[in-house]
Amino acid sequence: MMQSILFIGAGRMAESIIAGLYRKNGGNLENVFISNRNDSNRLEFLVEKYEVKMVADWKEIINEVEVIVLAIPPDQHPIILEQMNLLITNQFIVTIAAGIGPTFLETYLPEKTPVAWMMPNTAAEVGHSMTLFTYGNHVKVQHEQTMEFLLNAIGHSHYCSENDIHLLTAITGSAPAFLYLFVEAIIDTTEQLGVSRKVASELVSEMVYGSIEMLKTGQEPQELRSQVTTPGGATAEGIKVLKEGGFEELLKKAVLATNKKAKGENE
Ligand SMILES: NC(=O)c1ccc[n+]([C@@H]2O[C@H](COP(=O)([O-])OP(=O)(O)OC[C@H]3O[C@@H](n4cnc5c(N)ncnc54)[C@H](OP(=O)(O)O)[C@@H]3O)[C@@H](O)[C@H]2O)c1
Repeated sequence: MMQSILFIGAGRMAESIIAGLYRKNGGNLENVFISNRNDSNRLEFLVEKYEVKMVADWKEIINEVEVIVLAIPPDQHPIILEQMNLLITNQFIVTIAAGIGPTFLETYLPEKTPVAWMMPNTAAEVGHSMTLFTYGNHVKVQHEQTMEFLLNAIGHSHYCSENDIHLLTAITGSAPAFLYLFVEAIIDTTEQLGVSRKVASELVSEMVYGSIEMLKTGQEPQELRSQVTTPGGATAEGIKVLKEGGFEELLKKAVLATNKKAKGENE
């Protein structure tokens, strides 16, 4: 039987996890409780769609649940954790917030509280997140099983250190935006070649999808690239332009700038 889970925060990311749990559990989410700050319409919508239970104030239910998922913005964590500190009785606390690792959670919560951090990406919405996760110092096997259950609901996952999550969120969390920018630019260019936006979008999306399927066969990207690129041919000419324009260097710079900003270094 699924453990009882309370979501504090019922926004986009909470819905992705709940939707995943709903899919995996054949709709049986009677042990899932949702709460937010003030948007009761949103809670009603989720109750209707996923058959979860809503609570007006999470503090009313806190001692009836085993797991608490913090799906609130990072800056709300200190406020909620301070309130929670006085109320919890060894529940497993999982945050999905950017930048809020187990060290942060443990600072605010009673000693020996089991905590974890998971960083999904927006593909969680379609069950294809690449989620990074890590644990605090007091997690036991049953907590790991719960975590696995949450993670499997939204896609793939990778266990790593807290520090690695800070570094790798630039890749799994932010780099999808870089890829979408690439796709946007290719769609614009395709449209300029004389087809409709709709046709351009379809051509490009399927091209990207096919390329990803090729990557999933395990072949190296360089190998796949060379299969498309006859030396001295037309594709090679396009690659030359990208290389001369510093394409690879720019991507490295984008990742480093993302990490720098995440650390608050360029504020
Ligand atoms: N979206 C992403 O791509 C993504 C990826 C990885 C991680 N995350 C993390 O996921 C968390 C949620 O992001 P999201 O995109 O789901 O945001 P969102 O759609 O804006 O939802 C935020 C939710 O938090 C609730 N909330 C805010 N302050 C609260 C408080 N003091 N008490 C109770 N509920 C409160 C909001 O309730 P009201 O509407 O009632 O204010 C809302 O339900 C963030 O920490 C973010 O860093 C997001």
